[in-house]
Amino acid sequence: MAVRHFLTLLDLNRDELRSVVERAIELKALRNQGIASEPFRNKVLGMIFEKSSTRTRVSFEAGMAQMGGSALFLSPRDTQLGRGEPIEDSARVISRMVDMVMIRTFGHNVLERFAEYSKVPVINALSDSYHPCQLLADLQTYVEHRGSPEGKTVAWVGDGNNMCHSYINAALMYDFELRIACPEGYDPDEAILARAKDRVQVVRTPKEAVSGADWVATDVWASMGQETEQQIRLRAFDGYLVDHELMTHANRDAIFMHCLPAHRGEEVSGELLEDEKISVVWDEAENRLHAQKALMEFLQDNSN
Ligand code: CP
Ligand code: NVA
Repeated sequence: MAVRHFLTLLDLNRDELRSVVERAIELKALRNQGIASEPFRNKVLGMIFEKSSTRTRVSFEAGMAQMGGSALFLSPRDTQLGRGEPIEDSARVISRMVDMVMIRTFGHNVLERFAEYSKVPVINALSDSYHPCQLLADLQTYVEHRGSPEGKTVAWVGDGNNMCHSYINAALMYDFELRIACPEGYDPDEAILARAKDRVQVVRTPKEAVSGADWVATDVWASMGQETEQQIRLRAFDGYLVDHELMTHANRDAIFMHCLPAHRGEEVSGELLEDEKISVVWDEAENRLHAQKALMEFLQDNSN
């Protein structure tokens, strides 16, 4: 057995992905019954955060504690990573001391380089290119609320960003149709799109994407690292608000997801976000905990 990493959803095969989602649902039920298991006793997760986080940090740290292990928060501000120590050196040192590493960073190649030199599993906790842990939670949430997403139609409204790229991978792995509505100039990466061209279509109006959809998702228009583009993006995404009116074009039992944090009145209306008949964002956020516990178990069990 080699060391397994989770840098994108495609690092799992289709059966493995489904088993992680099912295990997440099981772990949630066990937690709700007060039943704990501690497969990570005496184990340590290193958490490298080069960008801010609420959900990801809390879910990994709490998840590790609940499984009997502990987590170390490592920020570039107070490690040598921030002073230019090469990723390859940091990977070799840190991975000799901890049992698993999660990294939130800018360039996806930072994760790839770290993983190449790491003795232990590495998890992508968000890069500029992908956010696969969020998709584990989103898939779990859809399965819990509506059953399998296979054969369904999913609409992504907004930026062709890291979340959108992970939705493209999810469409490939879970066999759903994905319609992406984004303004010209904000399309997803061509190479990522090309891999999934039979499953994914890019359209130019939110209405086209959402018509007949079973699942509608969006995200902020300016991601972390794009703060200086905020004003330009506000103008470019004019008309891309997801609200109750837009949702009237979706299927009657369609649900709405957002990875959060949300900007009410920009990409989503406050009324839709708070409408628990349609919006499942709080379950989606909670499921980060269960999905990542299932993922960490899987990586530990399948690495030597
Ligand atoms: N959705 C998500 O990853 O949230 P955080 O940035 O708070 O971790
Ligand atoms: N696209 C957003 C997701 C935040 C969880 C970002 O990268 O900032």
